[in-house]
Amino acid sequence: MNNTHESTKEIVLKVSNLTKAYGEVKPINQMSFEVYKNDAIAIIGPSGTGKSTLLRMINMLNTPTSGQIFLGDEEVTKEGYPLNKLRLKVGMVFQSYTLFSHMTVIENCMDAQIKLLKRSRQEAYARAYDELNKVHMTDHILKYPDQLSGGQKQRVAIARALAMDPEILLLDEPTSALDPTMVSEVETVIKSLSKRGITMLIVTHEMRLARAASNRVFFLTGGSIYEEGSPEKIFDNPEREATKNFVKRIKKKEWLIKNKDFDFLTSISEIDSFCRDADISIKTNKAIQSIFEETVTQIMLPQIKGQPLIKFTLEYSGQSQLLRLMIEYAGPKLRITDTDNEMAKNLLLYYSDIIEVEPTSDDLNDGFNNAFELKLKKSL
Ligand SMILES: Nc1ncnc2c1ncn2[C@@H]1O[C@H](COP(=O)(O)OP(=O)(O)OP(=O)(O)O)[C@@H](O)[C@H]1O
Ligand SMILES: [Mg+2]
Repeated sequence: MNNTHESTKEIVLKVSNLTKAYGEVKPINQMSFEVYKNDAIAIIGPSGTGKSTLLRMINMLNTPTSGQIFLGDEEVTKEGYPLNKLRLKVGMVFQSYTLFSHMTVIENCMDAQIKLLKRSRQEAYARAYDELNKVHMTDHILKYPDQLSGGQKQRVAIARALAMDPEILLLDEPTSALDPTMVSEVETVIKSLSKRGITMLIVTHEMRLARAASNRVFFLTGGSIYEEGSPEKIFDNPEREATKNFVKRIKKKEWLIKNKDFDFLTSISEIDSFCRDADISIKTNKAIQSIFEETVTQIMLPQIKGQPLIKFTLEYSGQSQLLRLMIEYAGPKLRITDTDNEMAKNLLLYYSDIIEVEPTSDDLNDGFNNAFELKLKKSL
């Protein structure tokens, strides 16, 4: 991952011997950690390990059984600490967007600023507009939540939280309730928050997001942080057994095509080994090889003038049995489905559906400004 920010050592959040018990069950057991300013921490781990419980305790939506939580140098777990003060310091975005349905997008982002921060309408408008602009939603400010897609609503929820200038932002599975077509637009926004240096904790089951948006990763299991480290360490070189087992189930490989006479056969045989390693069926394996051939060599390369720059990504999660095929490329938008090559097109559409990913300026990383995702047909 290519985070541009470096963590300075100012402590924003400190959790000390935190425990939450529900009767005999202790999802969080004597947990301690510190979060520094500009940290973007991805919290991963099996279902039921207390990830949501942890975030909810930081926001005091759940009361800890014991232990302490500090924001800066104030202990928020102390008797009588005002909840409204805490909620100003901590922004939260949940799995499903919690916008007010009777307010427009801009009003949703202004309301708490006016009521809680006592900002003037102009000030609140300007701050809301700025955040909505950063999530590419300024064309929709007068719409009501019902008129937006799930991805757009989630982007507004993020803008609304940030317009309050929280000291830390908590995101609990921000993409898990979205249709697959909208996941990447919200992921792009979250990656951009990390680049801006927004201090945040992101609970996610999307390892791709965890890797791309964080500078630290906590792997939670058994009530505590079982292993922590940089995304490279946790995903590529985990030290402990349970972490290895958890991340091993996710396999990812990228192929970069930078030359018209790239080694096609090697790429095909690498795709074949990837699929065999991941226990993907022969039928699906052949389909992926064919998709690679039709898209890259038959459709894209002939349309590209000059040096190509194409990235083909395969990602497989053994846990959810989800296979993701993504193609990113540099240069002008290509005609993937209105190609002259009828045979390539027919084969491609026989195996998959094409989902165009909206290009945004934040996707301009590494020169890739266009992308689409290929969804394998269910019959495969
Ligand atoms: N109100 C409650 N009463 C009793 N047990 C609860 C309550 N809330 C959560 N739990 C239990 O605490 C444990 C942790 O739950 P939590 O929702 O924090 O897990 P999680 O890591 O967020 O899981 P997931 O990845 O599925 O979202 C689970 O065993 C859950 O059943
Ligand atoms: Mg949860």
